[in-house]
Amino acid sequence: MTEKRENWSARSGFIIAAIGSAVGLGNIWRFPYVAYENGGGAFLIPYLIALLTAGLPLLFLDYAVGHRSNGAPPKAYKQLWKPAETLGWWQVCVCIIIGLYYAGVLTWAGSYVYFSMGQMWGADPEAFFFSTFLQTTEATDFDMSFVSHLFWPLVGVWAIVLAILYGGVKKGVELSNKIFLPLLILLFTILVIQALRLPGAADGLNAFFTPNWDAMKNYKVWLAAYGHIFFSLSVGFGIMVTYASYLKPKTNLTGSGLIVGFANSSFEILAGIGVFAALGFMAQAAGKPVEEVVSGGIGLAFIAFPKLISSLGSGADFFGILFFTSLFVAGITSMVSILEVPIAALQDKLKWGRIKAVSVIGGTTGAVSIFLFSSTNAIKLVDIIDHFINNLGIVSGALLSIVMVSWFKRSLMTELEMHVNHISTIKLGKTWEFTLTIVTPVVLLSTLLLALNALIQDGYSGYSNGLLLMFGWGCIIFCALGALVMSRIHDR
Ligand code: ALA
Repeated sequence: MTEKRENWSARSGFIIAAIGSAVGLGNIWRFPYVAYENGGGAFLIPYLIALLTAGLPLLFLDYAVGHRSNGAPPKAYKQLWKPAETLGWWQVCVCIIIGLYYAGVLTWAGSYVYFSMGQMWGADPEAFFFSTFLQTTEATDFDMSFVSHLFWPLVGVWAIVLAILYGGVKKGVELSNKIFLPLLILLFTILVIQALRLPGAADGLNAFFTPNWDAMKNYKVWLAAYGHIFFSLSVGFGIMVTYASYLKPKTNLTGSGLIVGFANSSFEILAGIGVFAALGFMAQAAGKPVEEVVSGGIGLAFIAFPKLISSLGSGADFFGILFFTSLFVAGITSMVSILEVPIAALQDKLKWGRIKAVSVIGGTTGAVSIFLFSSTNAIKLVDIIDHFINNLGIVSGALLSIVMVSWFKRSLMTELEMHVNHISTIKLGKTWEFTLTIVTPVVLLSTLLLALNALIQDGYSGYSNGLLLMFGWGCIIFCALGALVMSRIHDR
């Protein structure tokens, strides 16, 4: 017998879970380093423009698609237009790929809660992160030596996430968000207040909030902003479609969307404030400008925060525990939402029960993730996969879902708009239509072509072609094949 499809217990449960999904490693780990790499203050304006011209309009579209269909992306898109099931599976595969490395970074956050006790990173947090902890090798090529102290925490992360997912929508996803989100808000507020009280914090905030018009002429800053916004809002790769599909028939979709969008960006900017205040403090201590105080990149949170904590003295362990616990808690609720997409998609397609779907998806994705990210290659793989999947995987999935309704099947757009307006307080209208028909597709298409061109011409970050082919392009090929194969299988 097929299991009955679950619902959120109330709209508030959905909003909490959607915020829990949106607010994640993207806000606390990714946003500050992407902002730092893209000129600090230069990033904020492109980010806000990306939010208004692409993030929010797509959030409303995702809600409309999911809510109208009661299904995860493949079923939802198929109901709109049969061939679009392939797009749904593309988004499902994107989630699987993100889930692989998301667990890796979550493991680092969890491990750093422990390292914060007694500041185990010692005098050189950078060397500790890369050499002692991750055991990264210089080689740009494939080197998958096993690192046992990454293995067990990874197993732990997967066990927590799967335990939540086994609980189902109400008793697992919704309940865990109701516990973790208030905890996150509390921890994070204390943390940001502490960071703002540091001497030099104002210099950091100046660097964050002063627009740098010159840097904005660099198209890569815009690419980074548009590449980040979807990841951050959890749109364009199926999460919000799936979460909205668990809503009851009469729900205020746009009102909920605005709350989620506002909460997510507030968190992101708050994380930026916290991290840049801390950088300001370090810059003052080192007598350097904020832009030069740490090497940026993926390690920012794991290097800057330990450095900061060490310079605060031995009583500052608390600061580290707060930061890394926030990162961990935020990440768990997002990781749950990422995996919910393939789980729901398989349940829709093959009529599998929850336990079977969680076991198959969790078991296979977890095994691959544990294998890849308990190796000396971990940080390189996070860097490569994150870059490819954000700039190509998510952006192309988002673009296709938008042009499908705004260019190719225009009647669908009207239908979805009517669906939303019928049940929502804030009505979608000409601005939404115009944005999705002209602004977002043009920007996303240019973003995609520029990103593709940059990758083909210059590769990425000096990695060898072998690594890029296997893990960067390889992930894109996986998504394409997965989408083609799954959409050809008959529904049960
Ligand atoms: N939206 C999630 C994040 O920001 C995926 O981490």
